[in-house]
Amino acid sequence: MQVIHTIADLRAVLAGSTKTALVPTMGNLHEGHLALVREAALHGFPVVATIFVNRLQFLPHEDFDQYPRTLERDCQLLESAGCDIVFAPSERELYPEPQTFKLTPPASIADLLEGEFRPGFFTGVCTVVMKLFQCVQPAVAVFGQKDYQQLMVIKAMARQFALPTEVIGAPTIRASDGLALSSRNGYLSQDERAEATALARALRAIAAALREGARDVGAVEAKQVAELDARGWQTDYLTVRRRTDLLPPTADDFAAKTPLVALAASRLGKTRLIDNLEIDL
Ligand code: PAJ
Repeated sequence: MQVIHTIADLRAVLAGSTKTALVPTMGNLHEGHLALVREAALHGFPVVATIFVNRLQFLPHEDFDQYPRTLERDCQLLESAGCDIVFAPSERELYPEPQTFKLTPPASIADLLEGEFRPGFFTGVCTVVMKLFQCVQPAVAVFGQKDYQQLMVIKAMARQFALPTEVIGAPTIRASDGLALSSRNGYLSQDERAEATALARALRAIAAALREGARDVGAVEAKQVAELDARGWQTDYLTVRRRTDLLPPTADDFAAKTPLVALAASRLGKTRLIDNLEIDL
């Protein structure tokens, strides 16, 4: 496995090579990231993983400085998962001048849910992903369903710009107690880690209620938010949406059994966790 730090070296290594499959990450890798690498490898192309903590997608009060940088361990894990090339540029390399050209996704998909609570987040994500796509020019790029809205935004971006990259989603990998794996889980204290399972449990409770015929979605959501917040969580959102456009389902959607997804973001102490669960009625 080659570890590359500059765009010029990356282009030199990729020049003349066939297609590649890309897995963009911010490092501090866990089994969820490695599952994306294995999924990417299934396409039969060399796998390029990128490691870059992207300042553009953090708000000033967020954890950019604190975000764990564990390059050496990440490279060992990537190699064992079958990655061929790691592209880990410095900030100076990827943003040698202020990145004043940005890619702003439409409000209809990017200003709700995560975008409401993290204004500018998806502009930061789209800008860096487009730039990484330009550096690697992958045939395939794999993203996790753990970041459900991010996957939707990037798929829409690839579609609308006719990018030659097929964007693929891979399922969320969870710990045995149900907690979705996340680099931010490392911020949790022991007690918080034990409590953290409540988020996935709340999503499962919402799915069960709807499958059992509950149709007052607001009441179903409010019950779970109240339970979480009574246990010490501070919930940004815990809501049922249509999978197609992330808008709230209507009565017609229930009649038509439109595919739904429950999405959540909630804070436990200083740690903000997100998760989601697809619901088939
Ligand atoms: P990061 O949070 O490091 O995640 C990198 C990729 O791993 C994303 O596609 C994310 O959805 C996926 N992932 C994270 N946890 C997962 C889990 N438990 N199961 C499956 N996949 C999981 O997402 C980002 O970085 C950044 O926004 C990025 C796309 C790299 C742009 O900076």
